Formats: sequence, structure tokens, C-alpha cells
Amino acid sequence: MDDPHPTTGRREAPLQVRTERLLLRGWRPQDQEPFAAMNEDPEVMRYIGSGVLPRGASDGMRARLRREWVRAGHGLWALEPLRGGDLLGFCGLTQPAWGGTAVQAELEVGWRLRREAWGHGYATEAARAALDVAWGPLGLERVISLIHPDNARSLAVAERLGMRVVGTTVHPPTRWRILVLRAERPDHDAVPPRTDPDGDTPPQRP
Ligand SMILES: CC(C)(COP(=O)(O)OP(=O)(O)OC[C@H]1O[C@@H](n2cnc3c(N)ncnc32)[C@H](O)[C@@H]1OP(=O)(O)O)[C@@H](O)C(=O)NCCC(=O)NCCS
Repeated sequence: MDDPHPTTGRREAPLQVRTERLLLRGWRPQDQEPFAAMNEDPEVMRYIGSGVLPRGASDGMRARLRREWVRAGHGLWALEPLRGGDLLGFCGLTQPAWGGTAVQAELEVGWRLRREAWGHGYATEAARAALDVAWGPLGLERVISLIHPDNARSLAVAERLGMRVVGTTVHPPTRWRILVLRAERPDHDAVPPRTDPDGDTPPQRP
């Protein structure tokens, strides 16, 4: 694939991505209220190391999310329904802030949705688009996810994406042991095995 930034070598994620039902986009002032409400919900934040975020902390987090886009050329997109409506949550590609050298050398695909947006397949749909960006414009070979072992819904998203557990790490402030999952760049040259209808000759690559 061509390097999209041949002068600097910097690879950047698109600022907007459309999926079948979602718009993954940059952060807007009108996200402030639904973003803060999501981060104040104990059910949403149950397996997030920070716990629930007070309003000021959510504002600070949104500012950090915008800074990561500027600094690194990728980050968490705000999610909204293509048909229009409020912020559903976020998804995207970020550098882990903890986890040790090996973990922090990777990008993490992450997701968080407002409680009302669970159960529609939005997280998986958005994360698939994020992984397409990882393999395409960012040219990554692998992406990780850091998930609390009891976070069944998040693990189910990772499983739908074909991610597998490759280890564990500790979240220092909580001492939680967290699963490290990995997705690998699909091998586009791989041809699925074909069965030969006549039975004798082994399947050949075209
Ligand atoms: C983790 C989280 C994003 C998962 O959300 P989710 O809605 O369960 O996951 P998906 O978007 O993949 O949706 C899957 C569900 O939608 C259902 N669904 C409904 N319509 C669908 C459609 N058109 N396409 C696909 N799935 C659909 C699926 O059947 C599945 O339902 P199930 O949970 O009853 O099996 C959400 O629980 C969350 O925000 N949790 C709090 C934050 C968090 O823990 N983030 C992760 C930190 S590691």
C-alpha cells in the first residue's frame, strides 16, 4: 500500500468513516453532555479502571482525545447514527496509557457505548471499521485490546472481531489483572481451502 504521507512517513487515520449504520467522526461541542452522561453511568464504567468520571474529568478526557488525534493522527472517534441523533459512544485506535512496554508499543482498539446503545451491534460494527483503518491507512500488523476478564460484553465484541487472548497485564491503580487480546492483519493472499468436487486431485490455488 502507498504511504499516504511520503514526506513525513506519518500515517493518519481518516477523520470520518461511514459504516452501514454509523458515522465515526471527530468530537463536537454538542457531545459534551451525552459523553459526560455515559461516563457517569456506573453500569457503563463497571470494568473501566477509572470508575465513573465526574463531569470535569469527562471534559478533560474529551480534550485529551482531541489532542491524540492532533499528535498521533489517530484516536477515538465519536459515534453517531448515520440517520442522525445524539452521540452513541466512541470507538477507535489509541495508545494504551498503561500496561508495560510491550503493551504500550501497540495500538489498542477500544469501544464504549451509552447504555441505551447496547444490544444493536454498534460496537462490533464500529470496531470492524476501526480495524480496517488499522490494516489499511495505518498499515499496522496487529492491534490489541485490554479487557477485564469479567467484562463479558466487551469480550464478546473482541471474539466477534476474531481477537484472541495472548496474555495478561496489570492495571496499576486498581491492581486488576486484565486480559490482553490481539487481532492480526488478515493475510489478503491467503486462499481458503477449496474442496475438489471430484475428490481425487488436491485443491490448487488459482
Ligand atoms: C462493551 C460494549 C461496547 C458492548 O456493546 P454491545 O452492544 O454488547 O456489543 P455490540 O455492539 O457488538 O452488540 C452485540 C449485541 O447486539 C445484538 N444486535 C442487535 N441488532 C444487531 C445487528 N443489526 N447487528 C449485529 N448485532 C445486533 C447482538 O445480537 C448482540 O446482542 P447480545 O448482547 O444480546 O448477544 C458495551 O457493553 C459497553 O459500552 N460497555 C461499557 C464500556 C466498556 O466496558 N467498554 C470496553 C472496555 S474494555
